[in-house]
Amino acid sequence: MFVRLLCCALYTLSLVVHGKIEIRDANVATLSRDDIGMIFYITVQNSDICGYEVKVSMIECTEVIDEKDKDSGFMYLIGGHMGYLKPKCYKNVTLLYPNMYLHNRRGYCLISLKFKSDHDQIQQKKANITFDTWISKSVATPPILRGYYSKTEVRNCASPDLDPLNKCKPVDCHRKYLGSRNYFNKKWQRCQKVPVCVADPSKELVDVIFTPSNNKCRDMEKSVTKSDLQLIEAGTLKGPCEETYQSLLNIDCHYGKLNNVTGDCECDPGWMSAPFDKDQTDVANLFVYHMCNIEVAEWYDTSSRKIKVMALIVGVRALFVDELLRLGLMQLSVCRF
Ligand SMILES: *[C@@H]1O[C@H](CO)[C@@H](O)[C@H](O)[C@H]1NC(C)=O
Ligand SMILES: *[C@@H]1O[C@H](CO)[C@@H](O)[C@H](O)[C@H]1NC(C)=O
Ligand SMILES: *[C@@H]1O[C@H](CO)[C@@H](O)[C@H](O)[C@H]1NC(C)=O
Repeated sequence: MFVRLLCCALYTLSLVVHGKIEIRDANVATLSRDDIGMIFYITVQNSDICGYEVKVSMIECTEVIDEKDKDSGFMYLIGGHMGYLKPKCYKNVTLLYPNMYLHNRRGYCLISLKFKSDHDQIQQKKANITFDTWISKSVATPPILRGYYSKTEVRNCASPDLDPLNKCKPVDCHRKYLGSRNYFNKKWQRCQKVPVCVADPSKELVDVIFTPSNNKCRDMEKSVTKSDLQLIEAGTLKGPCEETYQSLLNIDCHYGKLNNVTGDCECDPGWMSAPFDKDQTDVANLFVYHMCNIEVAEWYDTSSRKIKVMALIVGVRALFVDELLRLGLMQLSVCRF
């Protein structure tokens, strides 16, 4: 108590108290392949003889998807509050970005550090933490990805939304952008925002629908225009109509190959797919279908082993029972005489 009073008295006397709370370190922790989040940490040091109430929180995070595309709208860090920081102590505060696709991403997060001693006004410092998990054949492994992948896995992909560690297959947009860009546009090879198609509830029939072939809202009341009719007449109708429904599906044939005629995966031997209904709603097109990812348990392998073990148990038991019976009989016979 005395120290605190003294501290505050000193504080009111002197004006040179700034610089007693310092950010010693601010960075991103090393990642491993199966992590489900990126950890941002800041190490805060109190070199004062007073304690401080400290609060750490995110201001804004921006992901730099490419030179022209910077998005500050979907990345949020959770956690960060710290509480009381004792005199001459330091603390390591962590904030978590929950995400399951952590490589091939770069950007920065602005973090606020607010602190206040007993009679102090609130002061603030900021830390700008950059993260860079960009993977490319020509770029050295970023330090925070040490041990995350092997160089032989890496492909150089044409778009930031293709996975360099998964043979440049499209990323799962839902997973990467946490719902903010749900549509994988095959033409541009990019995840895009899905428009909100608002229908008029007072109308008897739905007047606006979402079209998964082009990721646009379609006005159902003007579904055929004069120019459409002219195109039909001239026989030059092209575009989404030619695309088959199945080719719209975003399929990842893990252990198999895509048959581009049927639109199905042909699984490698020993692999199968979970059944799914491709005639589900249109929204189904927004999700990645994972096929040929169930390993078929080889009956012969496991079953024959089981049978052998069973046979052994039965055999041993039979011998045992046999032995018992014989003993019993012997005893019986002993008793008889
Ligand atoms: C703070 O936490 C991070 C992440 O857990 C860790 O990498 C770092 O070494 C810690 N720093 C200190 C000074 O404890
Ligand atoms: C944070 O750092 C990034 C990259 O170094 C920079 O582009 C951005 O302007 C910085 N933001 C602030 C607020 O300093
Ligand atoms: C479909 O697959 C065949 C080989 O299986 C290939 O020659 C052809 O180019 C593919 N077509 C398209 C449109 O990808």
